[in-house]
Amino acid sequence: MKVGILGAMDEEIMLLLEHYKDYESICFGGNTFYKIKQNGIIIASSRIGKVFSALSASIMILHFGCEGIIFTGVAGGVNPKYKIGDLVLGVELAQHDVDITAFGHPFGFLSGGKVFTKTDEKLNSIAKEVAKNEGFRMYEGIIATGDQFIHNSERKEWIKHTFKADAIEMEGASVAVVCDNLQIPFCILRAISDNASDEALVSYEEFLEEAARKSTRLVIKMLEKMGL
Ligand code: ADE
Repeated sequence: MKVGILGAMDEEIMLLLEHYKDYESICFGGNTFYKIKQNGIIIASSRIGKVFSALSASIMILHFGCEGIIFTGVAGGVNPKYKIGDLVLGVELAQHDVDITAFGHPFGFLSGGKVFTKTDEKLNSIAKEVAKNEGFRMYEGIIATGDQFIHNSERKEWIKHTFKADAIEMEGASVAVVCDNLQIPFCILRAISDNASDEALVSYEEFLEEAARKSTRLVIKMLEKMGL
């Protein structure tokens, strides 16, 4: 399978490139895509937010021919069980900032779409196996995505209540919509960097480097398991 790795953090992309060493850089659609010589995988930054990440995922699939997408990055924890540094594997993804309730639809719904998009079971089982082998605590949960960095308890509680969300981030659901519509298996892995409340920004900045190292290791081991 030709796999695309989308990382939300530049730090993580750099660690992956340091690991694989031999690659070609290709500029396309306002972003740089790295083709790894050893195994043909494509690595890129998703860039921040739903539109940029949907564009990056679409380019990986339609321009570079990726047949599976692994997305990694950080998320704000909503489920009180989640501690900073825990991993969450998105089982379903929803867009928390979509609102056409004026037309009688539920929050998160857009015509022609669905509120929740499911990730791929096979890729998820590889991620779970690797996390177990590496001794990383990984939860499976609902991830809510929106074009907002959440650092406010009221908004966090609303998202938790409305979508039964366990974690919040800014790219997963848009990548999910692209992959689901193009019938490309995908998984969304996140390391918890903050609790999406008042001190979220400080915690996020402190934790980025550790999260990047953890998710890079997970991705490399997943690719090895897939024979890449
Ligand atoms: N990614 C990491 N933490 C986040 C937060 N609190 N809100 C949105 N995206 C995030």
